Amino acid sequence: MCGIIGYVGPRAAKDVVVEGLRRMEYRGYDSSGIAVVDEGSLHVRKKAGKISNLDAELALAPLPTTHIGIGHTRWATHGGPTDSNAHPHVSSNGRVALVHNGIIENFASLRAEAEAQGAVFASETDTESAAQLLGLELANGVDLFDAIRSVARRLEGAFTLVAIAADQPDRVVAARRNSPLVVGVGDGEMFLASDVAAFIEFTSSAVELGQDQAVEITRDGYRVTDFDGLPAEVKPYEVTWDLSAAEKQGYDWFMVKEIHEQPQAVADTLLGRHTVDGQLTLDEVRISPETLRRIDKIIIVACGTAFYSGLVAKYAIEHWTRIPCEVEIASEFRYRDPIIDPMTLVVTISQSGETADTLMAIRHAREQGAKIIAICNTNGATIPRESDAVIYTHAGPEIGVASTKGYTTQIVACYLLGLYLAQVRGMKFGDEIAEVMEELASMPAKMQTMLDNQQQVKDLARDLIDAQSVLFLGRHVGYPVALEGALKLKEIAYLHAEGFAAGELKHGPIALVEEGVPVFVVVPPRGRDQLHDKVISNIQEVRARGARTIVLVEEGDDEVLPYSDVTIRHPKCSTLLQPLLAVVPLQIFAAEVATLKGYDVDQPRNLAKSVTVE
Ligand code: M6R
Repeated sequence: MCGIIGYVGPRAAKDVVVEGLRRMEYRGYDSSGIAVVDEGSLHVRKKAGKISNLDAELALAPLPTTHIGIGHTRWATHGGPTDSNAHPHVSSNGRVALVHNGIIENFASLRAEAEAQGAVFASETDTESAAQLLGLELANGVDLFDAIRSVARRLEGAFTLVAIAADQPDRVVAARRNSPLVVGVGDGEMFLASDVAAFIEFTSSAVELGQDQAVEITRDGYRVTDFDGLPAEVKPYEVTWDLSAAEKQGYDWFMVKEIHEQPQAVADTLLGRHTVDGQLTLDEVRISPETLRRIDKIIIVACGTAFYSGLVAKYAIEHWTRIPCEVEIASEFRYRDPIIDPMTLVVTISQSGETADTLMAIRHAREQGAKIIAICNTNGATIPRESDAVIYTHAGPEIGVASTKGYTTQIVACYLLGLYLAQVRGMKFGDEIAEVMEELASMPAKMQTMLDNQQQVKDLARDLIDAQSVLFLGRHVGYPVALEGALKLKEIAYLHAEGFAAGELKHGPIALVEEGVPVFVVVPPRGRDQLHDKVISNIQEVRARGARTIVLVEEGDDEVLPYSDVTIRHPKCSTLLQPLLAVVPLQIFAAEVATLKGYDVDQPRNLAKSVTVE
């Protein structure tokens, strides 16, 4: 959570910083702030609420045009979303301004220590203890870069700190542990940010900072060390997407743009995976075939939507590989003492690659000797860096807080992994793999059909705008789709919604059904007739109790028509691939309901895109 930026260079720092914050607002939008250095003093503006509030403040009280600055957009943890708790925090001796992403767990003892040395606190945040300690170090004559490392060594928890000093108009320093930080390397200018989106307008050359590393930037370059000051190795890389990919391109919301990008994102995720001689290649999976053949259990760990894509993956992976596969919510994983050994393959799924719960889960798994494969959308993020192998989903930047193309590309990447394991372990012949790959390759066009026919779903959103509660039912892979449909509606339309395994209805949830309650049902394609017929029975059960049934079903399946109030068709596909199509109308429905209700679709209340605290 939280977006951080630092800048030094020839441009007006206030403009670079505020624009960078705007591009990272998805990371948190409880407050924002900026600090610049001018003629030996720090100048700070900060405001609770969205960046538009900071804009208004800057219009009332403009900042001087300087060439060094830091900024922050906050997702509140310690201390409410108020002006005084907004970052940057300035030490009470006026020496430094500091921004922070993460949680400092030992802040109480550090605060007491700083207070004992005369610091006067102005906020309720954990962050301010770091700012005060840094200010005290400088007052004792310690160099700024040495001082940030010294403070970092003393902090427990997760943090990226970025700081500037009143008497040093030419450098920004930072340190990171368990929270992201990227250096942007420009020509005569340098950037620091939580996400490359903050500076991609100016440079595509980036350097990802490793765990427990500190960095100093000046106009001419950057210097990275560990927390003890020893030079550290870093890997520079080129960012392959540009600013236009991160802008709305005419759509009202990033989420809607991202829904429409799914055919391309799925096609890109499939690109180059299948050789002409019929072999599936996952170049990034640098775990030897021998090791993969020895695996006797797979555990998928993830959060939220990524967890639901893992639930879909389980059906395919077990079916294709016959390896037992568990799927676990990352935040529960390590606390239940899971049975893991070197024969366990942990697959972690994360769009951002920075989700703290997921990161902690894989660290726990590694300690027990498991091999880790990450499925991730963000090049160079912490989770892939701490994994043995990575399969990147090539979805491009996902800005809307509600994940859409993240979900569908994660499912595709999981399927590639399942097929690859089946190939390596001799569970599937080349022609069988080619058959699935061929069907996967046909999915972008089918997804496009769903997008082309969205008016029906938008009309439905208008009809159901006053619904108090919406239920979603599915069986097999339709069950996680139901969960995902409900999550989308909860998170952006603030509407009570629940997803259920349709077979569980009779065990309780059917009591929720009353006259007029909208119930979406995902009907499995024909070919798994038993499953199909069971779901038709479930539809009859809810309809008999007054539900308004909205049925997602493949073309040509008319068996459902007598029991369906609204029928949404999707092109024919096999059961395992149905989630890629069935989820699209559910995403559109949620986005439309939220839009009609006048909510901020991209930045729903209480949420942040990247959840970097446990
Ligand atoms: O970046 P990650 O994929 O690790 O994020 C996991 C969840 O926080 C995320 O999917 C969240 O549930 C979304 N807001 C759902 O739309």
